[in-house]
This record gives sequence, structure tokens and C-alpha cells, in this order.
Amino acid sequence: MSINNILVIGAGTMGRQIAMSCALSGFSTILQDISDTALRAARTELENWAAGRISKGKLRAEDVELALSRLTQSTELATSAARSDLVIEAATERLDIKRAIFAELGEHAPAHAILATNSSTLASSHVAEASGRAAQVCNMHFFNPALVMKCVEIVRNAQTSDATIATVTEVARALGKEPVLVNKEVPGFIANRMMGAIQQEALDLASKGVASIEDIDTTARTALGHPMGPFELMDLVGLDVIDFIAQATYAETGEPSDQPHPMITEKVGEGKLGRKSGQGFYLYDQEK
Ligand SMILES: NC(=O)c1ccc[n+]([C@@H]2O[C@H](COP(=O)([O-])OP(=O)(O)OC[C@H]3O[C@@H](n4cnc5c(N)ncnc54)[C@H](O)[C@@H]3O)[C@@H](O)[C@H]2O)c1
Repeated sequence: MSINNILVIGAGTMGRQIAMSCALSGFSTILQDISDTALRAARTELENWAAGRISKGKLRAEDVELALSRLTQSTELATSAARSDLVIEAATERLDIKRAIFAELGEHAPAHAILATNSSTLASSHVAEASGRAAQVCNMHFFNPALVMKCVEIVRNAQTSDATIATVTEVARALGKEPVLVNKEVPGFIANRMMGAIQQEALDLASKGVASIEDIDTTARTALGHPMGPFELMDLVGLDVIDFIAQATYAETGEPSDQPHPMITEKVGEGKLGRKSGQGFYLYDQEK
């Protein structure tokens, strides 16, 4: 199926960059949010980002101008949905919000439209039924920052059709991404699942006194070639987010090993959330 018009729902951290990526790749794109403030902030951030890329010679001014003219904004879901061939939902990570959006999309998007969710923790089977077109629903999981990161995990639910997978794979490639296919809905998909396993091992090694967090991070960087160690990364992501992901995974699997690690629970209880609170596993200078 040929995709010309893309609707991105949610103008937050992810949605704004996904929408700009679509517009830069030639798709007529609508960025929709219930918040006018979020839409205005998104436009300003994208214009500033584009100006920076132009000044560094990474993008041509005329390409940026064209992309920004292809990227429109709206607070209206029904009318925006009616004009889309593909919807990428990147709204707040709450099931009730996503179900309501997918129900509305089922009602207003054209019959051929494919509906994807960018959710990191909610597999598309949670919203597929609400849309009334489960065969045309899947996860299209971008990574942060979406304008930079190449990987897109395409996750099928039990009812996703081959045609849907083929189309979203083609779109991801057209965005300059490297799509990977996840054939079964497992918590964390591929990347976050592997990262979670590394973090869990790092937490176990530290809590058993096998090595210090500094030495574990150093090992990840110098022996495994990771750009940062697991504790540095957890501090960057936010320990409350790590805790939330573990809780969501545990709620789904019931596996005791998926429960939040006591070291994380303790830090969160003390308000030590990582970089954003000035302290997590490491202490940060908030003046910087
Ligand atoms: N932040 C990340 O690193 C990351 C990475 C990959 C995937 N994700 C996923 O992307 C999605 C969005 O995450 P985010 O970090 O961009 O969130 P965010 O909080 O930055 O942005 C969410 C946006 O959704 C809007 N919104 C809320 N309800 C809405 C509705 N009913 N209709 C339209 N817009 C609505 C909010 O106004 C907000 O602007 C989540 O599903 C998350 O799991 C996030």
C-alpha cells in the first residue's frame, strides 16, 4: 500500500521528532496533540534543531523549508485521522488514553489506514480491539532521540497482517531507519529487554559486593564497548522510569525476577532519581 499522509499523535519527546523525521522524508505529516502548548513547544524545538543542522551543513535550508511546510499541527483528532494513511501514536503512556485514541481512530481513519503505537511498554494487542481493525495494528517503536536513532522495532500482535508489517517496514526504511521485526509480543521487545538483563546483572553484582558501581560501569565501557555503563545509563534514564518499567513488566509476566530491584526501590524511596534529581547512583553537579 502506498503511504502519503502520516498522522503522529502526541507532540512530546518522541512524537515531535517522529513527525519531523516523516516530514523530512517527504511525507505529508500532521502532528496532533490535545495540548496547544505542547504543539507550539514542538514547533519551536524542531525549528531550532533544524537551524542547528543547517548551520553545521548537515541539512540544506531548502529541504528544511520544504519539510516544515509538509508538517502541519492540529488539536483535532477526528479530522486529522480522516486524512491519514498511517497513524503513529506517541501519546502519554497510559492504557486508558491509548485505548480511547485507538477507538476514535477506528471510527475516523480511512478503512485502509494502518494504526501503529510507539509505546515502549504497551504491546499493540492492548489497543487493537478498540480500533476494530486489529489486522492493521502493530507497534512501531522508535528510540530516543527519534531523529537520530536508527532502530525501529516493528512488533506484530497475534492478528497483525503480513501486509501491515510489509507497509510499516517500507515506511521505516523510507525514514532512513533500520527496522527490525519482533514476531511475538514480549515485554521490552528486543532492545529494552536486553538492556534490562544487563542492568539486572549489574545491580546483582553490585548488591552482592562483587564489584563497585564505578568498576562495573568501567567494565561495560572498556571491555564491552558500551558508550556508557549500566549505572550511568540508569541515572540518565531516571530511576523512577526504570522502576516503572520493572513494575509494568512484573505486572505482565508475574516473574519474581522481573520485580524492581531493591537497590532501585531504595533510591526511588529516597528521592534519588538520577541526573534529573542531582543524585542517583552518582552525585551530579546541578549547577552544570
Ligand atoms: N521518552 C522515550 O524515551 C520513549 C522512547 C520510545 C518510546 N516512547 C513511547 O512514546 C510515547 C510517548 O512518550 P513521550 O516520552 O514522548 O511522552 P511525553 O510525555 O513527552 O509526550 C506525550 C504527549 O502526548 C500528549 N497527549 C496526551 N494525551 C493525548 C491525547 N489523548 N491525544 C493526543 N495527545 C495526547 C501530551 O499532551 C504530550 O504532549 C509513550 O508511549 C512511550 O512509551 C518513549
